[in-house]
Order: sequence, then C-alpha cells, then structure tokens
Amino acid sequence: MSQFDFIKDIAKYGLENDQNKLLSVLNELIDYSKQHKKVNFAIQLQSILRDAIRLQQTSGLTPVGSLKHQIREDDRAINEFILEKLTSDYRINDLVCNAHFKDEFEYFIKEHKRIDFLRKHNLPVSNKLLLHGPSGCGKTLAAYVMAGELEKMMFVVDLGSIVSSKLGETSKNLSKIFKRASSEGCIIFLDEFDSLGKIRDYSQDHGEMKRVVNTLLQLFDYLPQDTILIAATNQKSMLDDALLRRFDLSLDLELPNKSQITELVNKILDNTAFSFDNKINAKKCIDSALGLSFYSIQKTLVTSIKRSIFEIDPKVVKLHSKISTSKWMSLILSEKKGLKKK
Ligand SMILES: Nc1ncnc2c1ncn2[C@@H]1O[C@H](COP(=O)(O)OP(=O)(O)O)[C@@H](O)[C@H]1O
Ligand SMILES: [Mg+2]
Repeated sequence: MSQFDFIKDIAKYGLENDQNKLLSVLNELIDYSKQHKKVNFAIQLQSILRDAIRLQQTSGLTPVGSLKHQIREDDRAINEFILEKLTSDYRINDLVCNAHFKDEFEYFIKEHKRIDFLRKHNLPVSNKLLLHGPSGCGKTLAAYVMAGELEKMMFVVDLGSIVSSKLGETSKNLSKIFKRASSEGCIIFLDEFDSLGKIRDYSQDHGEMKRVVNTLLQLFDYLPQDTILIAATNQKSMLDDALLRRFDLSLDLELPNKSQITELVNKILDNTAFSFDNKINAKKCIDSALGLSFYSIQKTLVTSIKRSIFEIDPKVVKLHSKISTSKWMSLILSEKKGLKKK
C-alpha cells in the first residue's frame, strides 16, 4: 500500500462512519510510517488516536454522568497547561556541551533505549533529570534532543501558568498532567521549574507551597519508569532541597567557553555557503563573545549574515558569500552592552 492508498481508505471509512475499519487503517498507517522512517509522524498519529479513543470512552460508554463531566474537565485542565505536545528531530550532535554533560546525558538516554534489558536484571531506570544553567544555554534544546533521540512524545508544561492560575489547584493540576503523561509513557518537560518558588509570593496560604512540594514528591516517586521527567531552571536556589534530591541526575549547562563558541559557529556555518571575510577578525569576535549565551551568539551571527548578504547585488550570482566580521563584532558588542544594563 502507498500513502495515497491509506488516504483513500481513511477518507472512505471516515465518510462512511465506519469506526472499526477507520481505526484499523489508521493503525496500519502507524506501522507503515514507523517502517518507513516517519517515526515522528507515527508518534503524532498514535497520540491523536489515543486522545480520540479516550474522548469516545468518556462520552459514549461511561454511564455515570458526573464521571463523564469530571473526565472532560480533566482534559480541559490538561490542555490548558500543556503548552505543546511535540515530537522532535534533534539529536545529541545538535547540542554543544562539555564532555561530562554529554557522557551523563547519553547514559541517561541509553537507560531508556535499553529499558527492557535493565528491567530484566531488576535494575532501576533513571527517569528524572534536572537541567540547570543560565538562559539561552540549551536547557530546552536538551529536552528536545531527549525527545528526538528516544523518539518519544514530549509534553511541554507551562508551570508558570499552573502556579499562578488558581490558588490551591496547583497540586490537582500537576497530578492530572502526570497521570496523562504516565499513561502514554512520554516525556514531561517542566520548564521554568523555579516558578514553584513563586507560590510563596502568590499565596497568602503558607500551607500551599508545602502541599505542592509534597504532591510533587509523590508524583516523582510513582512515576512509571518509561515516563521521563525533565525539569529546567536557571535558579536552583528557589527549589526545595527534598525536591532537588529526588532527581536521578542533575546537569549544568553553562555559558560557552571559546572552543564551544567555535563549535557553535562551525555548526551554524556547516553546509552553508557562508564564510568569514577575515579569519583573524573572526577569532577576535569569538573572544569578544565570551560571556554571552549560545542563543545570543547564534542570534548575532545570523543577523550579521543577513546584513552581509543584503550588501550583495542580487543580480550578481555568487556561490560563496562573505560574512562581514565588523558587522558581527558590532552586534556582539551591543549585545554585551545590553547585558551590562540588566
Ligand atoms: N548548548 C547549545 N548548543 C547549541 N545551540 C544552543 C545551545 N544553547 C542554546 N542554543 C541555541 O539557542 C536556542 C535557545 O536555547 P534554549 O535551549 O531555549 O535555552 P534555555 O532553555 O537554556 O534558555 C536553541 O534553540 C539553540 O538554537
Ligand atoms: Mg528554555
């Protein structure tokens, strides 16, 4: 069967309202996509199917009206706080990091690639990872790499909005999200994990913070092994010690050193037609970029590329374009000035 045949069958059974045949052709398409290296598409389709089946079960088959209502409410809460459900194509090579980070991160991934092997030997599987470091140094990217390497669906949770939404409901909402993610064996990404510390500010009720931390400790303890939790923060000090201790692995992503900046620049320019107008000046730019985040350096370089090629007459066909290092340098310096003002 080709993809077009699947589409024809899906259209046919969908329009005929033949649920059973529709489901079976969708499952065939999931298998077909996995075999043909369209894994992300397969995972997304699988998730759509699961969602639809869950909704059907709550609307049609559950006889108890209030339970039906409750599950719909849960779905609404979950969708409100999950920013994105995504799959990713990122791989470990997309992330510039030090050798320690790479080693530990790869071992963590390996535990999940070989989870059956570990289980066979009755060994525990690490599944809770804390990423720490300044903004723009790859915490979110690392979570994407995890999702890409393990070909898992990732729920990106908006912790900030859970915490600030309704006082007293943070624990309940977190539980709902963990329950859903656990049932699908996916990755939960709690970005801005330090938002939890803000409960202290928002809430007049001092018990609230304790309740949330206790709920999280329990959710952490009962997290199924094939469900991964990644939390990211740039302020570890805002977090409760008991919570910090629950992570199987805590890794730092720091501001880049010179060789990491060079690696980042090479990654950006690899497979492009761009090179620097002057190698010595490019080195000086790299020296000056020390202190900036990966993200800021990438942004200044890409901007300087755009501005450099604007100066080329579009009628002149050129295979290679030179990046003006003086443009890049001035962007780096203004970025650093911005940092000082903060
Ligand atoms: N360590 C890194 N290696 C490669 N690119 C990076 C790195 N850190 C940041 N970047 C680039 O900057 C972007 C934003 O980084 P992000 O992962 O969102 O940082 P954080 O979550 O730590 O604030 C990334 O999508 C990537 O393009
Ligand atoms: Mg981030």
